[in-house]
This record gives sequence, C-alpha cells and structure tokens, in this order.
Amino acid sequence: MEQKLTKLKEEALAALAEVTDSAELEPFRVQYLGRKSGVLTTVMRGLANVAKEDRPRLGALANTVKKEITSLFEQKKQALAAGQTPEDSIVGLDLSLPGRRLPVGKLHPVTQVMEEICSIFEGLGFAVAEGPDVETDHYNFEALNIPKHHPARDMHDTFYISDSILLRTHTSPMQARIMENQEPPLRYIAPGKVYRCDSDITHTPMFVQVEGFLVDRQVSFADLKGVLTSFLHRMFSDDLAVRFRPSFFPFTEPSAEVDIACVICGGKGCRVCKRTGWIEILGSGLIDPEVMKMVGYDPDEYSGFAFGLGVERIAMLKYGINDIRLYYENDLRFLSQF
Ligand code: PHE
Repeated sequence: MEQKLTKLKEEALAALAEVTDSAELEPFRVQYLGRKSGVLTTVMRGLANVAKEDRPRLGALANTVKKEITSLFEQKKQALAAGQTPEDSIVGLDLSLPGRRLPVGKLHPVTQVMEEICSIFEGLGFAVAEGPDVETDHYNFEALNIPKHHPARDMHDTFYISDSILLRTHTSPMQARIMENQEPPLRYIAPGKVYRCDSDITHTPMFVQVEGFLVDRQVSFADLKGVLTSFLHRMFSDDLAVRFRPSFFPFTEPSAEVDIACVICGGKGCRVCKRTGWIEILGSGLIDPEVMKMVGYDPDEYSGFAFGLGVERIAMLKYGINDIRLYYENDLRFLSQF
C-alpha cells in the first residue's frame, strides 16, 4: 500500500508536469483525483483490506499524498490561467523576472549644500577643520571676547551642560581653537552643528553653520568683501546683488552682516524678505585685536577676517523652502526631492 502511494504520487506529478494547456487539466483531475474512479480513490479503497493497526498511518499518508497532488494541481491551474509557461509553473518561480529594487539613499539636502559650500571655499584655498559640539564656556565665549555678564551673551540662548560646559552656540570657537595651535598665514573653514534653545519656522534647536577665517599680514576689509562676494556669486548666481551692512559681534571689529538680493522676488519685495528686497545671509568682520591677543598673535603684525553662515538658511533660499523644520522631520517625501 505504501509503495503504491509513493508510485502514485510520482506518476501524478510527472503527468502534471506534462500538462501545458488548461484543456488538459480536467482529464488529469478525473484520472488522479476523481472521486468515483480516480487512481487515488482506488488506492484508498484498498485501506479496507490492510491490517487494522496499519490503517491510521496509511490513511494519514494517503491524505498527505492527496493534499500534495491537489495543491500542485491548483498551482498549475492558476499558473496556466495567468499565462505562465509550463517551465515557470513547475518550479513556481520566474527566473527571468527582474529583482526587487532596493531604495537608494541620498545625502540630506543640508549635507548636500554644506558640501557645496565647503567645495567653493576649498576652491578659494581654504582648508576644512572640525571641532567638538560639546564645547567649553572658554572657547564658545571667553576666547571670543564675550566675558561672563557681557550683554552679548544674551544673543545666544545657550544649552548648558554644566557651568563651564555647553553645546556650542556657533562655530566661532573654531577660530580660537585653530589660531592658538597654529601660526599665520591661516585659511580655514569649519562646518558643524550648533545649538540654540530656539524653535519656530525659521529656527531649529540644532542647525548647521560654516565658520570661515583668514589670518595673514595686511588682510583688509576689501579681502573679506572679495572672498564673500565671490562665494555668494558661485553659490547663487554671478549677477546676484550683495551688500555689506554695519553690525556688531564682540569678536570682530569692524563687523558687517551680509545681505543678498531676495532670491524669491529678485529684490522687488515679498513676504520672505519682509518687503525689503534683501535677505540677511551671514555675519562677518575683521577679527578683533583682543581675540588675536588671547591666542598669542600680535595684532600689529597680523590681521584677519572671519565669517559665519547658516547652511539651512542658504539651502532654504536655494530650494525655495519656507519652513526650516521640514529638514528635520525625516519625511522621505520631502527629503527625496533633492
Ligand atoms: N558666530 C556668529 C553667529 O553665530 C557669526 C559670525 C562669525 C560673525 C564670524 C562674525 C564672524 O551669529
């Protein structure tokens, strides 16, 4: 009985493999699975004649064989209905189908713009340096001419870790860190994350800045204007209007904020530029002699300029994005557009 079942299964599967047309399905079903005189039914009738103690085991085996044949028969039926060739349906697998594509990742738009900014400055001869996000009060403030209780500390809503350790509020500490370890001439940019306790449509508690500075003999404000104008022209467009507006930073003297003609309205005046036609894009100035002295440089011998810019802001203007928080919500529908 057992042998009969095995043989039957082999025969049925071989016969099923030969079926290439749905018209052949019904004859196959009648021959092997037919209730009245199908081969399987006939073999199963033989169960009545086997020893009583073998019956449950052989009955179960017969059922398994029946299930296997039935299920392969159903598969075949579906495959033929779906128009697959017999070769495909035998293995139930189409080797000619292309594989599933894995989604390809991309650089975050802020990273893309940061890399673009760095490469423009590298083209102007600046080297790239990175420093710690967790900074000391000394480098973030003191070394930049911002002593304790200086009113300029109000400009920064600082995340303090302890009295003297904090999350840097700007990348300017890198000026002091690099200058105290190296001698001029220096030409550096320092990209990195900075933190301020602030959150609305134009502020996120963490954002990315690129600091830049140059120290040498006889560096003047004209050098600052030349370098920044040529950077902005490369970043946006060659005919972009740029203006330098007097400002104040404790670590630069004189200081200037740099505006560009609004890239949204072209300078005519719109909501983004608050109808002024101009958009503030970075802070800059000549490095304050006090900062020079603190790192051990002689301000009569050396001078330099420094600037700091916000990467998200530049990316927003470049791509016409009006809410800075979109960058950090990790919505792939937004991120995959860049
Ligand atoms: N650190 C200043 C800020 O975050 C920007 C700045 C950098 C200004 C360098 C002048 C020179 O606002």
